[in-house]
Amino acid sequence: MKDITILAIESSCDESACAIVRNGKEILSNVVATQIEVHEKFGGVLPEVASRLHVEQISAVIDEAVEKAGISVADVDAIAYTRGPGLIGSLHVGVQAAKTLAWAYHKPLLPIHHIKSHIFANNLITNLKFPLLALVVSGGHSEIVYMKDDNSYEILGQTQDDAIGEAYDKVARVLHLGYPGGPKIDKLAKGVESLYKLPQPKTQGEFDLSFSGLKSGVLQFVDRCKRKGETYDDATLAASFQETALNEIMDKLVKAIDTVEVNQVLLAGGVAANSRLREKMDEAFKDRKEELILPPLWVCTDNAAMVAVAGYFAYKNEAFGDFSQSAKPSLKV
Ligand code: KG4
Ligand code: ZN
Repeated sequence: MKDITILAIESSCDESACAIVRNGKEILSNVVATQIEVHEKFGGVLPEVASRLHVEQISAVIDEAVEKAGISVADVDAIAYTRGPGLIGSLHVGVQAAKTLAWAYHKPLLPIHHIKSHIFANNLITNLKFPLLALVVSGGHSEIVYMKDDNSYEILGQTQDDAIGEAYDKVARVLHLGYPGGPKIDKLAKGVESLYKLPQPKTQGEFDLSFSGLKSGVLQFVDRCKRKGETYDDATLAASFQETALNEIMDKLVKAIDTVEVNQVLLAGGVAANSRLREKMDEAFKDRKEELILPPLWVCTDNAAMVAVAGYFAYKNEAFGDFSQSAKPSLKV
């Protein structure tokens, strides 16, 4: 079978990235320029700053990826790019870069959904075996997804309000831990007992999730302590928030999995890097027949290799785009 080589571009949030991947598996290059140091100073991603930085970085990132891969853009089969969801100004930069390459080198375009990329990223470390169930937990999404095959996508449950990563980042801000908050809470809460009672998430759908009540519960807890002049322990509060949030996710995931027949269960998205979530997944799936895939950290966070893998499957399914398509900040699957 002929090799399929995809050049992919990702710029949906605060990483400018380009990768070249063969057959959805073999990484020829994977370059990520993160903006975290800049956004850290502001305590979060400033969209205007993010898009400017993408403009500054994207050409150099593409050049580096092409050089490291040791091939010419003329040798790739298609150009994949993140069309959405994400920050509009950030997405535009990657979309324009992808269109420019596609136009200059006469290559087909593959518009890719960011969340699909996070799921397909797992193909970089294992062979995806459909049907599968994916727990997608990131800064913008919290979804339980059933994929019958590589061209289908069914959301069994999703957050009704905030995404889990968003809740982590907001709670971290209350605790003055800085941005991005997820890894900081993860570290602070490690081995710490969850002792403070926080509101349990309430949802409508059987497998749906909700984190805004819990997030407000943390804010109210801190306000109440301040008003009463009481002290509290940051690490215990971080652990209490984390346990409540992750127990909610695990509860819904385990309920959802009993309604489908799958070969694999996999984690995807930035919050998949969370060490406590990984422990809970290990524990919940140790006696089950489904294979559990816990991707390494570099696979979980935003990169372009994952877009190239999703692009490879899109190429095989002939899901090509065209030059009329622009960035879609709330792109639906
Ligand atoms: O997938 P991602 O890199 O970007 C989006 O597409 O949203 O996810 C970023 C999110 C942030 O909210 C960040 O705080 C969270 O992932 N995150 C974590 C950890 N590492 C990153 N959350 C909890 N624990 C972690 N170790
Ligand atoms: Zn992401």
